[in-house]
Amino acid sequence: MRHIKWVVLVLVALSLVAPLAVAQEDTGEGLTIGFSQIGSESAWRTSFTNAVKAEAEARGINLLFSDAQQEQENQIAAMQAWIAQGDVDAIVLAPVVVSGWDVVLQEAKDAGIPVVIVDRNVDSDPSLFVTRVSSDFVHEGRLAAAWLVQATSGQCNIVELYGTVGSAAAEDRNQGFNEVIALFPGMKIIRSETGNFVRTEGKQVMESFLSAEDPANICAVWAHNDDMAIGAIEAIKEAGLVPAKDILIVSVDAIPDIFDSLDAGETNATVELSPFMGAPAFDAVVSYLNGEELPKWVPVAGKLYTDRAAYDADHQ
Ligand code: AHR
Repeated sequence: MRHIKWVVLVLVALSLVAPLAVAQEDTGEGLTIGFSQIGSESAWRTSFTNAVKAEAEARGINLLFSDAQQEQENQIAAMQAWIAQGDVDAIVLAPVVVSGWDVVLQEAKDAGIPVVIVDRNVDSDPSLFVTRVSSDFVHEGRLAAAWLVQATSGQCNIVELYGTVGSAAAEDRNQGFNEVIALFPGMKIIRSETGNFVRTEGKQVMESFLSAEDPANICAVWAHNDDMAIGAIEAIKEAGLVPAKDILIVSVDAIPDIFDSLDAGETNATVELSPFMGAPAFDAVVSYLNGEELPKWVPVAGKLYTDRAAYDADHQ
């Protein structure tokens, strides 16, 4: 009888500690993960880097961080070094552009190292990576366009500050935006040029738009990210115009600075891009290593905001 009591006690104790042990394993504690990041071109990118590092630290993941400084060849070199050294359990890749990843992804696969794509997309065969954790860039473009159509009753000459050419974030946002404005004959993109997602370049491109075009002919700026929008705001002010009134502005990211601009009445709308993709990316690595089947896309949601209060209410 005493023996049975002990068995029951041990079983109860095990049932109490077992879920804890599983939870720890599920965080990825003890894994070494290589994170190939694009660079630090924007405030959003820096927040994303910080969020991934913080998430890794909280989980006890050993994160090998590589900043590619906007160069795909640096990303490939970092991945190939991790593969050759065999010192990573997985790789998280934020690819700068869509094309050119087949060889290195195949090398990772051959070495048995799972790759999770985060943020921007690749055009490689989906069998070469575990999954992609990202927002829907096409939808972001559609949201921005829909807001602008409403704000202008479908009549607007738009200048576009394009992101990095060849990147999924720029190509897909452009696609979504154009899909919507194509439905309204009065909505036209009259000028488009890349500012590479960089604030200073956004300002320079906007200056060139303002000198090439009669400013009265520009109804709105569609910027592929907030940093370029903020650069454009500076250019508009320096040209003696009133941003968000003389020229409307809509962009993507929802960085803290853009809410300061909204507070100041100097911009009109931003579409949120969550920087918190580290947690779902690490979850995907752990699930894969545990032998689970994963969908090829893990979506991260975002909404359009025209004021800080609405954003704060959604992020308490
Ligand atoms: O890939 C996402 C984009 O990259 C962000 O919108 C932009 O700020 C960043 O540079």
